[in-house]
Amino acid sequence: MTDHRLAILTSGGDSPGMNMAVWAACHRLESAGWEVFGVREGFAGLLKGEFVELKAAQALRYSRLGGTFLGTSRDPDFSQKIPQALEQLRAWPISHLMVLGGNGSLRGAAALARASGVGVVGLPGTIDNDVAGSEDSIGFDTAVNSGLVLLDQFRDTAEALPRLCALETLGGGTGFLAERIGQTGGADLILVPEAPVPADVLDSVTGGAIRRQGFALLVASEGYPDLEKTLLELERRVGLRLRFARPSHTMRGGRPSAHDRFLAKSLAEFGADMLAQGRSGMIAWQAGQPALVPFDRMPTHKEFARA
Ligand code: F6P
Repeated sequence: MTDHRLAILTSGGDSPGMNMAVWAACHRLESAGWEVFGVREGFAGLLKGEFVELKAAQALRYSRLGGTFLGTSRDPDFSQKIPQALEQLRAWPISHLMVLGGNGSLRGAAALARASGVGVVGLPGTIDNDVAGSEDSIGFDTAVNSGLVLLDQFRDTAEALPRLCALETLGGGTGFLAERIGQTGGADLILVPEAPVPADVLDSVTGGAIRRQGFALLVASEGYPDLEKTLLELERRVGLRLRFARPSHTMRGGRPSAHDRFLAKSLAEFGADMLAQGRSGMIAWQAGQPALVPFDRMPTHKEFARA
């Protein structure tokens, strides 16, 4: 047994590219003589000591696939279970931990780093791209591309048979995903929870699009307040039949795009190098490269800015 034993854990909502990151970290540190383990089902698996030995050759087979082959879970109360998690880390014994996930998962990683002598890095992995302090997140680009395909297809039919078309995206309580899909797909209006649109503006923008082109194409984040009611009222006011598409969790799947594979690999290799140097923190994407943000300087909120 070496005294360099890395465990990799994927947490929260899975995102395309997570498998790539797991492989890249495993490959980097296995080549340096480390023992690598995967944790089954995120923090829930950590609490139960569900570690499995991981080899890069085995992880590579999953790197091109969506989801996470390690499995994942959500536990909003994880920060109250740190002693139980530390017990498992000591029992194995694990010297270093890599966590992939969104804001809640990275807070869990920070709590573990604070409480243990274990080196911990946290990588942003969520299609929502709402991780504070990181400009990009593993899975976001793939989800944008999935949404864009749907929006383009929506436009094909709207041009042929005019309707008030609205595509709902995932994104939780944030609008980063909806905004990027809407911007790149030329939506007439993008509804994000951060900036609700007054009824008169909804009417004038949508009405203008209908006058110009015969139809209107809207993108809305799932977190937009009273979305269905807002759309039904708009349908009544503009007098064009509403067609509402909700692809829901299909947006979280799919093979990772080249961008997400590159992002995942870059963040994971950098994170592995940081661990090897005895450093802990969030591995953020900043100005086109990975950067270490110490956990105690990790921002708590990512400001939404209109593109
Ligand atoms: O992981 C982020 C996300 O996909 C959000 O976009 C979405 O609101 C949420 O997870 C859905 O969570 P669950 O899979 O638990 O329904």
